[in-house]
Amino acid sequence: MKNILKILIIALIFTSPLNSAENKTKLLEPNWTFDGFFGKFDRASLQRGYQVYKEVCASCHSMSYLSYRNLGEKGGPEFTKQEVKAIASQYEIQDGPNQEGEMFMRTARPSDKFVNPYPNTNAARVANGGAYPPDMSVLVKARKGGADYVYSVLMGYKEDVPEGISLEEGVYYNKYMIGNKIRMPKPINDGSVEYTDGTQATEEQISKDVVAFLTWAAEPHLEERKKTGFKAVVYLLILTILGFVIKRKIWLRIEPKV
Ligand code: HEC
Repeated sequence: MKNILKILIIALIFTSPLNSAENKTKLLEPNWTFDGFFGKFDRASLQRGYQVYKEVCASCHSMSYLSYRNLGEKGGPEFTKQEVKAIASQYEIQDGPNQEGEMFMRTARPSDKFVNPYPNTNAARVANGGAYPPDMSVLVKARKGGADYVYSVLMGYKEDVPEGISLEEGVYYNKYMIGNKIRMPKPINDGSVEYTDGTQATEEQISKDVVAFLTWAAEPHLEERKKTGFKAVVYLLILTILGFVIKRKIWLRIEPKV
């Protein structure tokens, strides 16, 4: 028996995830407001994040699952109706065909999907030296490491290229990208955007804001999910206590055996 226990303990130590000999680069983990059991998005950060996406990322990355009206929905950046209208009206989209069978351009409405920066994926590749800038609607969910990964990639340009790594034209060294090479020029620097709410536009802040925004886009019901989870735990707790009390009550009526 003792031997079996020993073997089991040794096996446990070896298979422990903490022990696995992964030499992967550890991702950066900023303090996200939406992490944890009571996690919530910071509304102002989401709004700034949209600004960053719009002013910096949107020239290359599409977000084709999102509509402008989503920006006004509960649990997201919660722009007002007027703000959403104003945002949508800055874009032109193709519509049609009209009575004459022709396609035409018109101003976007809140119900329209985010405008794509490129007409198709081939055009996107050609414009980016052969690399396709992935759609950002669900990127945070699609990548291992989620928000931490995207944040790390944005912050991962700082280090010098290690010896022995050669970079072709248009390829950059990035500590966190798979293979350490990325065909995206460093998109964010201090002051890349100008915030109107007084927040300092440092590289870290801008990156955090845009990643918070992308996390919301990938999981718009995150807050609701966490709330439901909390309610479920409380519900189960009450149910357990109730069950315990009832059990005692019922058993009290039965005479104890002597
Ligand atoms: C000049 C065009 C351009 C801009 C601007 C740009 N990107 Fe990129 N991005 C790319 C390309 C191209 C790739 C694909 C790189 C590759 O595959 O090597 C990419 C890849 C990425 C990746 C890695 C995705 C993966 O596959 O794991 C992330 C994360 C990312 N971009 C985030 C952003 C964010 C956030 C912004 C805005 C702050 C932004 N990008 C702005 C062109 C751009």
